[in-house]
Amino acid sequence: MKRIDIQGTTRRSSIYIGESLKNLARYIPSRDVVLITDDRVSHYYKHDFPQFRTITIGTGERIKTMETAADIYQELLAMNAQRSTFLVGIGGGIVCDITGFVASTFLRGVPFGFVSSTLLSQVDASVGGKNGVNFQGFKNMVGVFNQPEFVICDPDLLQTLPERELLCGFAEVVKHAVIEDPELFAFMENNTSEALALNRQVIERFVHDSVVIKSTIVNRDEKEKGERRKLNFGHTFGHAIEKTTGIPHGEAVSIGMVFAAALSVRKAMLSEEEFHRIIRLLNNFKLPTSLDHDKQQVMDALKKDKKREGDHIHFVLLHRIGKSAVEKIAISELGRIIDIT
Ligand code: GLY
Repeated sequence: MKRIDIQGTTRRSSIYIGESLKNLARYIPSRDVVLITDDRVSHYYKHDFPQFRTITIGTGERIKTMETAADIYQELLAMNAQRSTFLVGIGGGIVCDITGFVASTFLRGVPFGFVSSTLLSQVDASVGGKNGVNFQGFKNMVGVFNQPEFVICDPDLLQTLPERELLCGFAEVVKHAVIEDPELFAFMENNTSEALALNRQVIERFVHDSVVIKSTIVNRDEKEKGERRKLNFGHTFGHAIEKTTGIPHGEAVSIGMVFAAALSVRKAMLSEEEFHRIIRLLNNFKLPTSLDHDKQQVMDALKKDKKREGDHIHFVLLHRIGKSAVEKIAISELGRIIDIT
């Protein structure tokens, strides 16, 4: 097992890679714990912790709302939860985001931690202290920065993950490699079939290297004033595609990364050869690399991005695989690249 720490404003967060859900009791108080999980995860693991009260929510991006948060507040009140009550989110990005949001706001904040059950949440969503819910269909519109006390990344939990969800996690690993780590990128190229077969060593390296990259950046810029923006590579288009088409986050980010890489080529930063290496890697991980949807609708959604500043947006471009930079780009330029890619 490996441990990586993030020193946040609110507290230190320790991420345990290769730890088991079965050891959860080592990280939490012996009493006054409430687990928050979803229908799918509860089905597999509900018998592991009969001693703890559990709140179960539904699945899917559509339930990541203020209404779901309000339902959880209601259940916590009914359980007579106190400021000392420890909340543990066991699940993927949606469970972790909502649990972190509820824990940060209920009674002005209660302690919390995560057991991350999907690849996407192990490599990205559960790490870094962003918690929140969607609002009127817009991603993570309401939320807080607040670090969980711990994140347990248990590789065994990935065994029961539906393939489409697993592939979405690979998209975020590609993102980390592309923005920061050419060696991880080459490792992914050379170990694609092992990763798809869930080879434990390969997956643990994907998770470990992703968490090292993300935690290093978050330790320098927790509140996303500068460098953390790099972690949004592919996400400006990705969020707009996700909202418009309804395809899963990782698939939308995969297409978004292709657009961002295409813009990098157009600006004579990234070589054609590396652009095609990125597309090839995404295809090998069975991820989509082109948009089969009304482009104007995607642009209309993109114009409502919460990170937009007037006619411009902070956008992540690539100089090469492993070297990225944030630039202010005109929204109109993004419209052109979506038209020609
Ligand atoms: N997923 C991007 C970030 O956490 O900053």
